[in-house]
Amino acid sequence: MTGALRRWAGHISPFTTLAPTAWSAQRPTYGDANPAVIQAALRRTVSRPSGNWFAFADSSRIGTTPLGTRVAGVPIVAWRGQDGALLAGPRACPHLGADLARSPVECGALICPWHGLRLDGRRHGTWRPLPTFDDGVLSWVRLDAVGGETPTEAPILPVRPPEPRLAAVAAVEGVCEPDDIVANRLDPWHGAWFHPYSFTALRVRHAPAATDDLRPEDDRFVVDVTFKVGRLGVPVVAEFTTPEPRTVVMHIVDGEGVGSVVETHATPLGIGLDGRPRTAVLEAVIAHSDRKHFGRSKAVAPLLRPLMRMAAARLWRDDLAYAERLYQLRSAR
Ligand code: FES
Ligand SMILES: [Fe+2]
Repeated sequence: MTGALRRWAGHISPFTTLAPTAWSAQRPTYGDANPAVIQAALRRTVSRPSGNWFAFADSSRIGTTPLGTRVAGVPIVAWRGQDGALLAGPRACPHLGADLARSPVECGALICPWHGLRLDGRRHGTWRPLPTFDDGVLSWVRLDAVGGETPTEAPILPVRPPEPRLAAVAAVEGVCEPDDIVANRLDPWHGAWFHPYSFTALRVRHAPAATDDLRPEDDRFVVDVTFKVGRLGVPVVAEFTTPEPRTVVMHIVDGEGVGSVVETHATPLGIGLDGRPRTAVLEAVIAHSDRKHFGRSKAVAPLLRPLMRMAAARLWRDDLAYAERLYQLRSAR
């Protein structure tokens, strides 16, 4: 294809056709993936403030029925008040401990199924509501006793794309700690090797130095990568940063969908019955495009969202296996 023809083709479609390549013929990346660089990036990440906020749910999943979960071993219930505001508090009823996640919601109040106690989000005896934040995609709860940091009014959120945008959240759970999830995301070199169904032609342009003290503008990974859809590919430049200790963000900084983000949030759930830690991964894909037809894709969002979730969930099955392996090795030492 001539340059002009290629530019015209790129204007009407973001895809390029990929030449078939053998997985094992790729250039090995272990020489570049310096463990000291990944460990230093992890140390810098976990030393950042979080304001004691934990992402705990896909906001679209909290509606007229309450959602029960636990965060860092604290059982919580979340629901919506009459005005749609996100409310949360301890999951056990203050009377005899019924599971409030099984409560019907009436006029924005939980009604305990055991003896009818109503909780409308205000304090009731020993039961105190927890601070919440709904960022429009994810729901957060602030646990000051767990975080132990200076609390902030709102979580430290990544920069997100403007409208039109399409968001989908995938959730998975693994036997590991949040650091293992973050460490996996701070190794961009595994992408085309470990996820050949999704990525190809991956080259790390910039990796931060293996030091604890870096200027913010240097504290990022910049990667050339082509997203694969069968034999078609979408080449982009992606940048990875960590705004807070449990979040890794990938921004598309060049190519199709500039401004789109993939946010990976690792939230400790607590210890499982087997005595090992559980961590939830909430991955929010917030896609944006300046292409004319993208605005129209909002109409098909209910169809696209499950597909976006499925694509992220497949990646996460493999990335969880990576993170769980890191945890196994660390806990065996
Ligand atoms: S346990 Fe909830 S009202 Fe009795
Ligand atoms: Fe991965």
